[in-house]
Amino acid sequence: MKGIVLAGGAGTRLYPLTTVASKQLQPVYDKPMVYYPLATLMLAGIDEILLISTPDDLPRYRELLGDGSAWGIRIDYALQPRPAGIAQAFLIGEGFIGGDSVAMVLGDNIFYGRIGLDEIVANFTKGAIVFGYPVEDPRRYGIVEFDDDGHVVSIEEKPEVPRTNLAVPGLYIYDRCVVEHARALAPSPRGELEISDLNRRYLERGELHGIRLGRGIAWLDSGTHESLLESSNFIATIERRQGLKIACLEEIAFNKGFIDIGHLTRTARAMPSSPYRRYVERIVEGAQNGEPLPQLIG
Ligand code: DAU
Repeated sequence: MKGIVLAGGAGTRLYPLTTVASKQLQPVYDKPMVYYPLATLMLAGIDEILLISTPDDLPRYRELLGDGSAWGIRIDYALQPRPAGIAQAFLIGEGFIGGDSVAMVLGDNIFYGRIGLDEIVANFTKGAIVFGYPVEDPRRYGIVEFDDDGHVVSIEEKPEVPRTNLAVPGLYIYDRCVVEHARALAPSPRGELEISDLNRRYLERGELHGIRLGRGIAWLDSGTHESLLESSNFIATIERRQGLKIACLEEIAFNKGFIDIGHLTRTARAMPSSPYRRYVERIVEGAQNGEPLPQLIG
C-alpha cells in the first residue's frame, strides 16, 4: 500500500504564523507537525509516500524531508496549485498511486495510541476504510453513523444537525478504484472535491467500512492556535513523562526494519548536537547493548 500526506491548504487560521511557513511545518512541541502524520504512515508499514502541498511550500518540505532515504523510505512530492478539495489528492497522485491501494493522512492530523493500522493495512483488500472518533463538537467534522451491526449507514460533511458525535478523522484507506471515484466527483457548493462525497460513493456501493477508534486513542488536529497549543502540550506531557519520543522518524524506521543500525548511527551523527540527536544516539546505544527496543504504538 502507498501513502499520501496532504499538506496543502491556505492555513489562514494560523496567521501570522503561516506567513512564511505553512501550517504543517509549524512546531508541535519538538518536531514539525508533518512528522506526526508521516509517522502514522510509517507505523502502518508504508514506505512509499507522496507529499502534496502548495507551490510555495513544496520546496520547504523537500528541504526538511528530502527523498526519505534518511528513514529508508521513498518520499515523492506533488503540487496542489490551490486548495480545491481533499479528494483532489487522488487526481494529483494518480501516477504515484498506479494500480495500488492507498492510505491518506491529512498533514495536520496527529494520532496517538494503538490503532493497529499495520494490521488493518496488511489485511486490506477492497473498498475503503474510514474511522469514527467521538468528539465534543461534531459540527466541525465529517460525521459517520454506524448501525447496530457496526456497518456505516451515513456519512455527512459538517452537518448542521449531526446524527452522531463520531467524527471522521483525516486518515483514510482506499483501494485502487479511488482515482476513478475521485474523477467522478463534482465540486461541492464551496467549489471543493469533498472527501465525504468520495466516501459516500464507496458507501453507496456497500464498500465503505468503518472502524471506531476508542477513547484510549488520541486524535488531535492542529489547525487553530488553541489546538496547536493543546497538541504541543499533549506531546510534551507524554514525552517528558516517559522519556520516549512520539513520532521520532528514525526510531520508527529502525524499529520497522526500514533502516539498519549502521544507517541509524550515520543518521544520528549527521544531526546537529541537540536533545533529538541524543535521543537517537540512545536508541543506537541500546541496540548495540542488545536492549529490546521500546515498543512502538500506532
Ligand atoms: O480533520 C478531519 C476533517 O478534515 C474531516 O472530519 C472532514 O471530513 C474533512 O473535510 C476535513 O475537514 P477540515 O475542515 O479540517 O478541512 P480543511 O479544509 O481544513 O482541510 C484539512 C487539511 O487538508 C488542512 O490541513 C489543509 C489540507 N488541505 C485541504 C484542502 C481542502 C489541502 O491540502 N488541500 C485542500 O484542497
